[in-house]
Amino acid sequence: MQKYIRIIGTGSAAPDQILTNVDLEKMVETSDKWITERTGIKERHIAPKDKVGSDYACLASQRAMQMAGVTADEIDMIILGTVTPDAPLPSTACILQDKLGAKNAAVMDIVAACSGFIYGLSIARALIMIGQVKTVLVVGVEVLSRFVNWSDRNTCVLFGDGAGAAVLRGSDKPGGIINAYLKSNGSLAHLLQIPMGGSRIPLDASNVGHEDRYIRMKGSEVFKAAVKAMSEAATKILKICELESKDIKLMIPHQANIRIIEATAKRLKLPMDRVYVNVHKYGNTSAASIPIALDEAVREGRIKKGDKIMLVAFGAGFTWGATIIEW
Ligand code: COA
Repeated sequence: MQKYIRIIGTGSAAPDQILTNVDLEKMVETSDKWITERTGIKERHIAPKDKVGSDYACLASQRAMQMAGVTADEIDMIILGTVTPDAPLPSTACILQDKLGAKNAAVMDIVAACSGFIYGLSIARALIMIGQVKTVLVVGVEVLSRFVNWSDRNTCVLFGDGAGAAVLRGSDKPGGIINAYLKSNGSLAHLLQIPMGGSRIPLDASNVGHEDRYIRMKGSEVFKAAVKAMSEAATKILKICELESKDIKLMIPHQANIRIIEATAKRLKLPMDRVYVNVHKYGNTSAASIPIALDEAVREGRIKKGDKIMLVAFGAGFTWGATIIEW
């Protein structure tokens, strides 16, 4: 049994190719001004045709393992959050396992959209705690550019591609993941979905080019739900951990929209200088958003030993959740 579960390494990766708001002005009726003011996004990374999510997941994982000083053989489990798998079968985690050479690992994908990384951390923590596994790699990866309708200005400006990863291990020293809070509400699934491509409406010749093959979203309803759910998750996890907002050195929220992030911070009375933001560089990378932001915050020195940080997410499903970590 392990009491303290620590993140001992983080890593991230994104495609080199960048699509700016100005580039998008040439593709749909939009403007840099509208996108910047309504979302905070300036650019996003887009995977070239010959790359898949597991390629970026592999790079991010190798960087996290290097920081952790952990070899592929030492990974007991890989938990990978994605809604844009390399293929329907097998899991992207299996493909990643092979690319990493992590031959001793049990692996699985989890589908919790933008909350995938927080769900993964929570599962990893529990399995390490009960002694079932020692070292877990938690990954969030998306290639959303393949599932976006590039003629729908309501959605195509919002999303990007990338991957982030963290290595978790038990420790005798106090600290690490203090606790986690997870929640879902499947009755709101219709507000953010890809209606086709599953067993209900398989992709076939009859629906080539159909808009339901891509991300469909009721933006303003999702926006309101996101602010409410992220504030609720943050408040709940503070209570569970017997902490207050003032104890949190840095909040790393899901990076979907700067206005969602600011509204959540305001409700928590957290000043924006204690909130990590990189949505301007990546757009919304769903399950990859929090681990990319976490890795950048770590490498920029924004998180010091002993700091309490909060991760808070919201995504399709709806799913949402939060966790507090003593670094
Ligand atoms: N460029 C220019 N105009 C655009 C546009 C774009 N890229 N996208 C939408 N618009 C237009 C709409 O068509 C609408 O025009 P209309 O009034 O003539 O119908 C107008 O802008 C306002 O649309 P609205 O949806 O009310 O704007 P908004 O302020 O809610 O911002 C989002 C739209 C999508 C940015 C916002 O709702 C949002 O961020 N939602 C959450 C998205 C999200 O984070 N999803 C993932 C959650 S994990």
